[in-house]
Amino acid sequence: MNNNSNLKWHKGKVTYNERCRLLNQKGLVVWFTGLSGSGKSTIAVELEKELNARGKAVYRLDGDNIRHGLNSDLGFSEEDRNENIRRIAEAAALFKDAGLITLVSFISPYRKMREFAKTKAEKDGFIEVYIKASPETCAQRDPKGLYKKAAQGEIDNFTGVTSPYEEPEDPDLIIDTTRLTLKESARKVLELTLVKILS
Ligand code: ADX
Repeated sequence: MNNNSNLKWHKGKVTYNERCRLLNQKGLVVWFTGLSGSGKSTIAVELEKELNARGKAVYRLDGDNIRHGLNSDLGFSEEDRNENIRRIAEAAALFKDAGLITLVSFISPYRKMREFAKTKAEKDGFIEVYIKASPETCAQRDPKGLYKKAAQGEIDNFTGVTSPYEEPEDPDLIIDTTRLTLKESARKVLELTLVKILS
């Protein structure tokens, strides 16, 4: 929060409810958290397609993608990850305020920052989805070859190997990708999302 007394908040003449009425939905942040290779991005991509096909206004913010642009100045120290999540929590809350269903897929390993994201989006406009797969499973899948590099000491601070991942304590949904297919996983999140945006 900037405490500069020379800044003033400008209130608009269009309310959140008016934006939502136009879109015929509520805004929502669907926050995917989990290890690299757990399936966050793949499920978010599938969910985005399903929501769009149902006429819903949806947008996806993906860790790897955002790190190419907006957050290209950040690395993987605890401090940089926290700044990564702080920025994206703020951005997601804005997208949600615009009335969009906003799918966020970042490892987001620290509970404190996921709590921050929830507070920003406001409680009833946020669901936390834990994409669960053990480090061993993710290392076996290793879609980007990063676990191999981490094991060879070529990547520092690799989540689940040399950097911590704090599991969610009370997520709205747990998707175990070692048991469910991609379609089944996306369907579970879709069902909860539809309940949230229409209730
Ligand atoms: S977060 O921890 O700050 O939330 P984020 O989701 O943005 O991470 O980025 C994770 C992606 O960056 C991984 O999917 C992987 O492709 C890549 N990556 C590169 N270095 C690391 C690392 N040290 N730890 C985890 N992921 C890394």
